[in-house]
Amino acid sequence: MLNPPSQINKAIYLACSLWLVLCIFEGSGTEYENSGCKSRASHSDGSTEAESLARRVLAVFGLLVFSLAAPLLAADNIVHLSVDATKPGPKINRNVFGQFAENLGHGLYEGIWVGPDSSIPNTRGIRNDVVAALRELKVPNVRWPGGCFADQYHWRKGIGPRDKRPATVNSAWGDVIDTNAFGSDEFMDFIQQIGSTPYVSVNVGSGTPQEAAEWLEYMTAAAPTALAKERAANGHPEPYKVGFLGIGNESWDCGGAMTPDYYVSLMKVYSRFVLNMNPAQRGPAQGGNDQMLKIAVGPGTPDTEWTEAVMKAWKKHTWAWDINGVSLHWYTVPNGWPPSTPSEKFGLDDYTKTLKSTLFMDEFLRKQEAVMGKYDPEKKVTLSVDEWGAWHAPLAGSNPAFLVQQNSIRDAILASLNLNIFARHSERVRIANIAQMINVLQSMILTDKEKMVLTPTYYVFKMYVPFQNATFIPVAFDAGTYTHNGVSLPRVDAIAAKVADGKLLLEITNLDAENPVTIDADMTGITAKSASGETLTGAAVDSVNTFASPNTIVPKSAAVKIQDGKLSLTVAPRSVTIVSIEP
Ligand code: AHR
Repeated sequence: MLNPPSQINKAIYLACSLWLVLCIFEGSGTEYENSGCKSRASHSDGSTEAESLARRVLAVFGLLVFSLAAPLLAADNIVHLSVDATKPGPKINRNVFGQFAENLGHGLYEGIWVGPDSSIPNTRGIRNDVVAALRELKVPNVRWPGGCFADQYHWRKGIGPRDKRPATVNSAWGDVIDTNAFGSDEFMDFIQQIGSTPYVSVNVGSGTPQEAAEWLEYMTAAAPTALAKERAANGHPEPYKVGFLGIGNESWDCGGAMTPDYYVSLMKVYSRFVLNMNPAQRGPAQGGNDQMLKIAVGPGTPDTEWTEAVMKAWKKHTWAWDINGVSLHWYTVPNGWPPSTPSEKFGLDDYTKTLKSTLFMDEFLRKQEAVMGKYDPEKKVTLSVDEWGAWHAPLAGSNPAFLVQQNSIRDAILASLNLNIFARHSERVRIANIAQMINVLQSMILTDKEKMVLTPTYYVFKMYVPFQNATFIPVAFDAGTYTHNGVSLPRVDAIAAKVADGKLLLEITNLDAENPVTIDADMTGITAKSASGETLTGAAVDSVNTFASPNTIVPKSAAVKIQDGKLSLTVAPRSVTIVSIEP
């Protein structure tokens, strides 16, 4: 897709530049001779004085046209936004900023859990540096223990005295030995330390409804049941809250290679019997609020067969069972499986291809939403994008089963594009979980023994915190086009939202890897008095933070101008910027 005015401007500019260069080049053929009392100018091509004068006039004219054309080119890099605060949209549910922490590689072990005897500063075995960093993100929910791992996890192996827990094999991820040291109580401790809500995925593939029901009872029962007593004996008399229950994971693949109909039968049984017993979560009929939401397995490819089956069943649900959400998994894997894009030391080709590929999320959501809309026009059932993010090639020298990758400014831009897509789909998409939290795939944090580094994606999540539960505000703009090597991307992306205290937030992503863009925004329904901005960019598309150089990519303040109620700022190439506007 080409942006016509932009191409025309470029063509005019190039023609003028060429003309000017030719004129000057021809004029430079003059040679001066001094012979006696007479000085005479002749030209290497033998032309006369009159011809030379004509050329100079042409050159001056050329310069004039050139200077007229230059602003045209500059105007090419201006994007006008119209923000309309008089038409507030839905709430951007804070749960779309959720995270995913699977028992995979060094995601839990080393990334979160180092054990109470570690020399790495910790609280009851959980890293203090990681907790402090995550608290800043106000992580709304954490999905655990998987992923593929969930369908082979047997929770009883992960409770009680740690030195008595059995060692098992993590056959989902690299056949490594699992000490089971990080079990339910450690996960809940972590959740409480970072101030989040648990999203627990139960084992449908190799477990039973009874096992899952007892796990929920262990975690949530307040009454003196045997399982509540067992939890108290393990040091936790108070029942935990579980915000979300995942009924299996990718049951069409690693979760048991089931057909949609087979899964739907199991889904009903799990929904019926796997209950949250926390009095505060029993639901309004029992005097509680804050009910646990049950999320069914959904699709991982754009076809809609699975969603059809789940939603068709839901339409006929009875008092005996219900679900509140259907999950959707989609990773950005630009070259297909197995993932092969490098996560470090790459160029513009990989940058544009990856961003192009991530934008498919919008179409994927639309397809699934259309099916959900047939059975649930009132949008009672949420679409839970509980695995998303960039899946690149494993880092050289790492265990390929540990899914270790670097995280660059490209990934930060990819994150903002997806968060913006979710915001635009807020009516249906009310939960999402980036994969994954620490040391795995597109993570927030990388650790190496006692060292920790925050990734560019971490900073995007931090900058977006004010969008949690804000009200979506429409923004109209012509994004323009950035093209590299035949791959075209929208030059910019933008969303806006209003926060409870009346502030307006504006996010601008500049996908253009090479040029800054000047943003010029008019606003209806808000009189802007002042504004401040924060921006994240890198010197190159593959800029990263490393343990040796952890602050290469950090948010910096951005200069924003408000004049006559209009806002203007220039955003750097390959950047994510958030402006907060005070009314
Ligand atoms: O996030 C890694 C894996 O990707 C998850 O375990 C699985 O659900 C998905 O295929």
